[in-house]
Amino acid sequence: MNQITSFEQYKKEYVRSVQQSETFWSEVAESFLWRKKWDKVLDWNFTEPKVKWFDGAQCNITENCLDRHLETRGNQIAIIWEPNNPNENFRTLTYRELHTEICRFANALKNLGVNRGDRVCIYLPMVPEAAVAMLACARIGAVHSVVFAGFSSSSLADRINDSACKILLTADAVYRGEKEIDLKKIADDAMLQTPSIEKCIVLNHRNSAVEMKTGRDIFWNDALENISNGNEAESMNAEDPLFILYTSGSTGKPKGVLHTTAGYMVYSAYTFLNVFNYKEKEIFFCTADVGWVTGHSYIVYGPLLNGATTVMFEGVPTHPDHGKFWDIIDKHSVNIFYTAPTAIRSLQTYGEEIFKTKNLSSLRVLGTVGEPINEEAWHWYHKNVGKENCDIVDTWWQTETGGVLISPIANVTPLKPAFATLPLPGVQPVLLNEKGEEIEGNNVEGNLCIKFPWPGMARTLYGAHERFRQTYFSNYHGYYFTGDGCRRDENGYYRITGRVDDVINVSGHRIGTGEVEDAIDVHEHVIETAVVGFPHDIKGQGIYAFVICGKKIENEEALRNEIKKHVTERIGAFARPDKIQIVSGLPKTRSGKIMRRILRKIAEGDTSNLGDTTTLLDPSVVEQIKAGAL
Ligand code: WT7
Repeated sequence: MNQITSFEQYKKEYVRSVQQSETFWSEVAESFLWRKKWDKVLDWNFTEPKVKWFDGAQCNITENCLDRHLETRGNQIAIIWEPNNPNENFRTLTYRELHTEICRFANALKNLGVNRGDRVCIYLPMVPEAAVAMLACARIGAVHSVVFAGFSSSSLADRINDSACKILLTADAVYRGEKEIDLKKIADDAMLQTPSIEKCIVLNHRNSAVEMKTGRDIFWNDALENISNGNEAESMNAEDPLFILYTSGSTGKPKGVLHTTAGYMVYSAYTFLNVFNYKEKEIFFCTADVGWVTGHSYIVYGPLLNGATTVMFEGVPTHPDHGKFWDIIDKHSVNIFYTAPTAIRSLQTYGEEIFKTKNLSSLRVLGTVGEPINEEAWHWYHKNVGKENCDIVDTWWQTETGGVLISPIANVTPLKPAFATLPLPGVQPVLLNEKGEEIEGNNVEGNLCIKFPWPGMARTLYGAHERFRQTYFSNYHGYYFTGDGCRRDENGYYRITGRVDDVINVSGHRIGTGEVEDAIDVHEHVIETAVVGFPHDIKGQGIYAFVICGKKIENEEALRNEIKKHVTERIGAFARPDKIQIVSGLPKTRSGKIMRRILRKIAEGDTSNLGDTTTLLDPSVVEQIKAGAL
């Protein structure tokens, strides 16, 4: 694959990728292992929408991640696993070992009746088996749907049911810092309402006692008994589904973003190589969870496709102390470190003292992802972690984009703090105004859209193509709409300013306001809820809920706690509101629409200029809400 090594080269490649898009991507694709080459590089329109890359080609992504590396790097470490508990040993898997594990688990899945095209739900802690499970699915052509292990039983059930998963993979327990959580128990609760699940495979991770349902549940090791090592990978069509990953939108129901085989493979590999300027034998550490797209593309697929060594970390950055990331970097001589701004901001609060005892000299490139990074955090990261010696790549992308779209290329693109800088080759961003016209020139701001397909883009929402069209391709005809606002500076550099829809970004977790509202509305005393985001020093955004109750509340504090518990049960602890204000009414227009703009202002603590409130049904509610604001 072509690696970009100078800014001049980037500029040339970029122009070529726009002018001769198909030639550009077919050249990138040449370096992969294909069972059959494509008939057509690209077939698309953004109206239906329809996007097909490398149509007619056949391949298996796991042969590209593993088999083709065996001869040259069979004994190289593919995965380093760092446990949550500092007293436990780390684990490593070489490419050969990982290959064997995957072939065996692929055979075990087949043995349990999993066929090509079947959906498999993966609800596991951050352990190597999560990667093994994903790749074993891909090996046999089953579609994996990883659900972050911080989701509650009802969220898990919703996701299993939406794509009718046949098998659930889970573990006895998961660590969260000091706490051990009974994951199997949560899975059991979910499985009370998931008729499609035929088998549940349970990994014994913590040796915790679990209840096993006869005929349905089977331990991971038992599933592997008498299973052979040899497995012939399925030959998949380029556009066969590879995985589903649920993400939040503005309405309550999560969206099953669907990625397909060849385009995702080419794109995740190309972006890993170029964004991080990855060099042979380097150790790459991404702190994300495999439950999110960052874990899919840059813990598992991108690194393995490039034959890299990838670090998987089970714990949290502050356990046993706030030096955990730096210890892992020193212990394994990590060269490339990729994390979220929220983690940086939270570690920043502990001060710089800790760096006196850490070396960090192995680091060459730093990255951030998930939310806008503020300049202060950028400089802190650059100085204390990078010793002013490492480029920081601020990578902008989404679950739907499959891989990074706008980002500096490490050691190539001149940096500007808090800017994602320039589009990668093949990516054509535009800023649109409210009328849907392209805003030309520099020093401008608008809604960020992409006007041409790239290989890693999502193809549909599982079972909901019309919703896919409506969500991403209907606001602006002929464009993919990202949902983000964006500024382009005087040099043409891009800075993502945040969501322009009803989605909030809490600690890099994307949460739909509708989801939280639905969870709160379940409470017996709650009549209606409106949720908005507000600026939060550490989390980026916090969650502010305005709640109307049906009866006089004696103990408001108790109600707030109950509401938080509801949200934890329905979604997960990460979606718990920071502030809950009980109100007598919400600012609604005469047609009944909640004016969130006003609530957002109040939540931000900026009530000086609330704009035009004359169209409200009852403008006096605004005064009441202002008076009670938290
Ligand atoms: C949303 C996508 C991409 C993997 C993790 C999140 C925000 C993401 C950046 C960045 C500013 C960013 C956007 C985007 N976002 N990266 N570098 N700068 N904002 O994936 O959960 O699908 O969320 O995260 O708002 O739309 P996701």
